[in-house]
Amino acid sequence: MLCNQWKCFLFLVFAFAATTADSSRVLELSDRFLDVRNEGQWFVKFYAPWCAHCKKLEPVWAHVAQALYNTNIRVGRVDCTRFSAVAQAFRVSAYPTIMFIKGPYDYVYTGDRTKEDLLHFVNRMSGPPVQQVTRPDSIDILKANNPIFFTYVGKQDGILWDVFYSAAESYQPHGYFYATSVEIAKRHFGIDTVPAALVYKERSHYYFPYSDNFDLLEPAHLNESLFRWVNEERFPTFPKVTRSNIHHIVQTKKYLVLAVVEENKLSEIAAHEQEFRDMVEIFVHKNKQKYHGRFQFGWVGTPDLAHSIAMDTLATPHLIVLNASTNEHHIPEDDPLQLTPEAIELFLDSIHNQTAPTFGGNSLPVRIYRAWFEAKTSLYDMWLGNPVLTSVLFGLPLGFLSLIMYSICCADILDAEEEEDEPRHEKKE
Ligand SMILES: *[C@@H]1O[C@H](CO)[C@@H](O)[C@H](O)[C@H]1NC(C)=O
Ligand SMILES: *[C@@H]1O[C@H](CO)[C@@H](O)[C@H](O)[C@H]1NC(C)=O
Ligand SMILES: *[C@@H]1O[C@H](CO)[C@@H](O)[C@H](O)[C@H]1NC(C)=O
Repeated sequence: MLCNQWKCFLFLVFAFAATTADSSRVLELSDRFLDVRNEGQWFVKFYAPWCAHCKKLEPVWAHVAQALYNTNIRVGRVDCTRFSAVAQAFRVSAYPTIMFIKGPYDYVYTGDRTKEDLLHFVNRMSGPPVQQVTRPDSIDILKANNPIFFTYVGKQDGILWDVFYSAAESYQPHGYFYATSVEIAKRHFGIDTVPAALVYKERSHYYFPYSDNFDLLEPAHLNESLFRWVNEERFPTFPKVTRSNIHHIVQTKKYLVLAVVEENKLSEIAAHEQEFRDMVEIFVHKNKQKYHGRFQFGWVGTPDLAHSIAMDTLATPHLIVLNASTNEHHIPEDDPLQLTPEAIELFLDSIHNQTAPTFGGNSLPVRIYRAWFEAKTSLYDMWLGNPVLTSVLFGLPLGFLSLIMYSICCADILDAEEEEDEPRHEKKE
C-alpha cells in the first residue's frame, strides 16, 4: 500500500518534471483525474495522438495554459487512447473535446479554437451565470470588450428574472449575461418599462420583444420565447460558422447563408477569397433589416463544412444556402467570383419564393450518400493526421477480413464438393 502511494508520488513528480521541461504549463492528466475533478476549476482538452485537429490545437493550448498559470483555473490534457476511463466518464465522443469543469458540472466548449475565444470562455464560465453591474462606467467597459451581451434591468425577483436567470445558466458557455439597476441602465439605454431584458449587439440594443407585456404570457411560453430569443440574438450578423456552432445556429429556424472561403493554418485567406467574403459581408450589413426575419448569414473558413452540406467538394470561394429543417441546400448558378450584390439579392429572393433549384434533402438515397461521404472524409482526415497508424488500424482488420472471406469462400466450395460427392456414394451402395 505504502509502496503504491510512493510510486504514485514519483509518477506525479515525473509528470510535472516532464511538463515543465518542455516549458509547457499543461498538466498531463491520467485516470486519477477522476478523483480530483471536484477540487477547484479545470480547463481540460481531451485528445487522441492521431487526430490532426488536436495537433493544430496544441500550441494554442500551451498559450492558454500559460495565460491561466497564475489563476485558480488549472489547464490539463487527457490522452483518451491511454485513459479511456476518463474519456468515458466525461462522455467524450470526438477529438479534441474541450471542457470547463467546475465541481460536479462540466461544460463543453464549442467555439472557435483561438486563444482569445478560449480565454473569453474561461472568463465567463469561472464566474456566476449572471454578473452584477454596480458601477455606471462598467457598461462602457462591457460595450468596448463584448460585441454582444445580454442585460437584465430592474428588481431581481419575479418571473422575468427567474426565466432570464435560467436562460443565463443554459447559455453561459455561449454568451455574457449581466444584471443592473434602472438608474445605471438609464444612462446607457433608453428604458421604457422595467423589469426588462435587452441585448446589446454591434453598437445597437434590442429589447426582448415581450419585455412590456411578459406578465400576460403563460410561464412556459415566456420561458420558451426568452430561450429562443437568446439563441437567436447571441450570434453576430455575420459570424464565423464552424462545425461546433452550426448546430446552434440552425436552431434559429432560418435559412443559413454561408460564404465559403479557405483559411490556411495561419488563418489567412487568399486575396480574391477575402474580397468575396467582404462583398458578402457588406451586402449583409446593408440589408440587415430586409433579411433578418428569414435568413441568418455567416462565413466558413474550412470548406469541409460546406462540403458535408453539399456532399461534394466545391471550389472556394462560393455561396451556399442551407435549409436545416429539410437538409436541402441551394447554390447560385453564377460563377461565385462574378457574383454581384444584385445577383445575391435575386438568388435569395428566389429561395424565399421557393423557385430556386434545390439539392440534397432527407430522402433515403441522399441520407445513405451523405453517410458514405462523411465516412470517406473522416477517414481521409485521419490519414492526413497519421498515415502509418491509419494504415495499420484499417490495413490489419482489412487483411484479416479478406483472409476470413477467403476461407469462407473456399470452405463453401469444398463443402459443396463434398455434398455432391456424398449422394454418389449412397447411390453406389
Ligand atoms: C425553459 O425552456 C428551455 C428550452 O426550451 C428548457 O430547457 C427549460 O427546461 C425550460 N424551463 C422551464 C422552467 O420550463
Ligand atoms: C425549408 O423548406 C421547407 C419546405 O420547402 C419550407 O417550408 C421551409 O420554410 C424552409 N425553411 C426555412 C428556414 O424557410
Ligand atoms: C421569385 O423570385 C425571383 C427573383 O426575384 C423572380 O425572378 C421570380 O419571378 C419569382 N417567382 C415567383 C413565382 O414569384
